[in-house]
Amino acid sequence: MARRLPSQPPVLPGFSYVHVLGSGGFADVFLYEQNMPRRQVAVKVMLSEVVNDQVRQMFQAEANLMAQLSAHPAILTVYQASVSSDGRPYLVMELCSASLSERYRRESIPVPEVLRIAVKIGSAIETAHRAGVLHRDIKPSNILLTAYGHPVLSDFGIASTLTASRQEDSVGLSIPWSAPEVLLDEVPGSIASEVWAFAATIYSLLAGRSPFELPGGSNSSSDLMSRIARAKPQPIGRADVPASLESLLRRAMSRRPELRPGSVLELVRELQLIETELGVPQTGIEVAMDDWALGTVADLEERTRLRPIAGAAKPLPARRRRRLAERAGEYTPVATVREGSGQAPRSNSRATGPARSPQLTWLIAVGSVLVVALIAAVLVVLLRPGSGGGIPTVSGISASLSGETVRFTWKDPGLAGNDRYQIQVIGGTSSIQLSPHFVVDGSAGETVCITVAVNRDGRTGDPSAEKCVDVPRG
Ligand SMILES: Nc1ncnc2c1ncn2[C@@H]1O[C@H](COP(=O)(O)OP(=O)(O)O)[C@@H](O)[C@H]1O
Ligand SMILES: [Mg+2]
Repeated sequence: MARRLPSQPPVLPGFSYVHVLGSGGFADVFLYEQNMPRRQVAVKVMLSEVVNDQVRQMFQAEANLMAQLSAHPAILTVYQASVSSDGRPYLVMELCSASLSERYRRESIPVPEVLRIAVKIGSAIETAHRAGVLHRDIKPSNILLTAYGHPVLSDFGIASTLTASRQEDSVGLSIPWSAPEVLLDEVPGSIASEVWAFAATIYSLLAGRSPFELPGGSNSSSDLMSRIARAKPQPIGRADVPASLESLLRRAMSRRPELRPGSVLELVRELQLIETELGVPQTGIEVAMDDWALGTVADLEERTRLRPIAGAAKPLPARRRRRLAERAGEYTPVATVREGSGQAPRSNSRATGPARSPQLTWLIAVGSVLVVALIAAVLVVLLRPGSGGGIPTVSGISASLSGETVRFTWKDPGLAGNDRYQIQVIGGTSSIQLSPHFVVDGSAGETVCITVAVNRDGRTGDPSAEKCVDVPRG
């Protein structure tokens, strides 16, 4: 797509670079092999030219949303998001195939197959809309196929992060699939503009080209933009596409947003009717039904905090209490031993059972406490950062101030092989890098604190003591 050389793949702790998968307007996508668990993953890395602090923050917010939406069967799974040691945000995601976006230009995809893909992808878009997220970059190349051949939508909301940083031009917009009101800057994006882009995408899969592209004609950005503004798509030109489908897509690409179907779900329901018209089974719509499935992390926390702890207000009946205790027991060691906290899991010996002799109960209680304590001890030893691998610890961080810029420096505690420093700005970002210094732009009156740990093969050693610097006022 992009006519440029791919950027340098970043060094990512715990991942080995394999090769380039593709390049887009704002990012490159590379194949990496993850070390633990060992699997192949696609890593999307933003180009350094587009990165600034605001973009980094928005990227993080969008990555959170994407991860939340990942549970949808037609949304690409995101495993991880972070910032590389050279400052570029990246997303680690499920490795997919881009074959659909190559295939539609090469061959006629059967109409029932396009309808099936469209209903699934439409369900994903509708789900995002219900969660308050606009995709903003719906187009064929953002429909990937999983290893099992299921279509999934990728790049959720990322486009909005990026277009915000590039207001000066429309390079970031995928023009052929952008609604006229978006191209003309009348709105930054809306449900109606997503309906338009989704219809243009379905149209492309059927026609083998985007709706305003003239086969053999001039298709420069300005040609496309003026044709989109006039809202006269080229005929699909396929005898097997029913008139009802073509007219639905044209209506969904109306110049006036109010003439389009009112939501992606409405459009999807009409696609299902066309499946029936063609005599093929209707593809099921998968849209999250319950609020909890769509809640943001923040409001889930909020709700958890508001909800009274089960059993706190009124004691539960004994049998129910026992079942809960048993269930908690299944998870106890993993759930309560936090990395580095050294906390022993709570014993669940309070579980009430059938009547037993006091001695037996006592024996069972002591026995289970011992077993749980043993498991806890083993887990604490295994999980404690820095233990086992002999990961070195950074000490003696020094700092210097110039204006409001704080420069932290430390001595190499003995890094080996692929070790990296993991710097945590307290109350701020974290960064992974190789160089033993770190610069923070503070502001007057602020206290800047960091800790530095060593990351070895994806495991983090003990952090250094906190080093704090007061940035003087004025
Ligand atoms: N998860 C993935 N698995 C495999 N290939 C991918 C994945 N994500 C993106 N790609 C490939 O990388 C290319 C660039 O992706 P991207 O930067 O999103 O740009 P665009 O979507 O505009 O093509 C895509 O066209 C696709 O071929
Ligand atoms: Mg993409």
